[in-house]
Amino acid sequence: WPGEIVRMDSVASTQEEAKKLAENGAPEGTAIMAEEQTGGRGRMGRKWHSPRGKGIWMSLVLRPNLPLSLTPQLTLLAGVAVCTAIREVTGVPAGIKWPNDLLAGGRKICGILLESSLREGGLHYCIAGIGIAVNLTREDYPAELQEVGTSLLIEGGGIPVDRTRLAEAVLAELEYLYLQYIEQGFRPIRELWESMSVTLGRQVCVNTPQGRTEAMAVGLDDNGGLRLRNSAGEITSVLSGEIEMI
Ligand code: BTN
Repeated sequence: WPGEIVRMDSVASTQEEAKKLAENGAPEGTAIMAEEQTGGRGRMGRKWHSPRGKGIWMSLVLRPNLPLSLTPQLTLLAGVAVCTAIREVTGVPAGIKWPNDLLAGGRKICGILLESSLREGGLHYCIAGIGIAVNLTREDYPAELQEVGTSLLIEGGGIPVDRTRLAEAVLAELEYLYLQYIEQGFRPIRELWESMSVTLGRQVCVNTPQGRTEAMAVGLDDNGGLRLRNSAGEITSVLSGEIEMI
């Protein structure tokens, strides 16, 4: 990984630490990893459970030369990178639920939070936050998450995973895919994402600011939105939001 890796013990959220560094001019590729987060954040204002020593809690500073409308592509890229690294290092058959939740055994194993900062109408920097539940046991999860969350330890049959090795593999994949993305655009990422997706070909329910609809997930569009086909055969896309697979 070409950037500096800053290791911290306990932080509220690595997102905030990475933002501070980015505001102070940290170059692209700067990464922050923490042993524990006391205020880990998920998408849609949710909390992210980040117990000490059990996961990879990391945020990266990116400075892509992109219009804001294409930043969802970066989230998909990060999902592909983590999914590849997990499969390689642990053999756990993780899959991607649109846009970028990683599931194993039908439960969540990793979440990605991409936050963008704007300056003079353009993109200033992005912070890509990656949370991987590596060595959590069932008991490490609070009761309300036990049905929705799992870990590589649980899905791998109780074998602990070397967090350092996995983090290195994630960063190596990210570097490779990010450079490929800059040179070749979104198409290779899109193909990889589609091959790793557990969403495509499924009937899904989509919640967007415009409301709730039910349709078949059929692919990604050029921006990284999810293409849907409704019962009348019409194709639409959603660029952000949340889906339930039904
Ligand atoms: C989600 O699925 O809702 C996204 C979860 C993102 C969690 C990671 S852990 C590292 C970084 N710091 C945070 O506070 N959140 C992200």
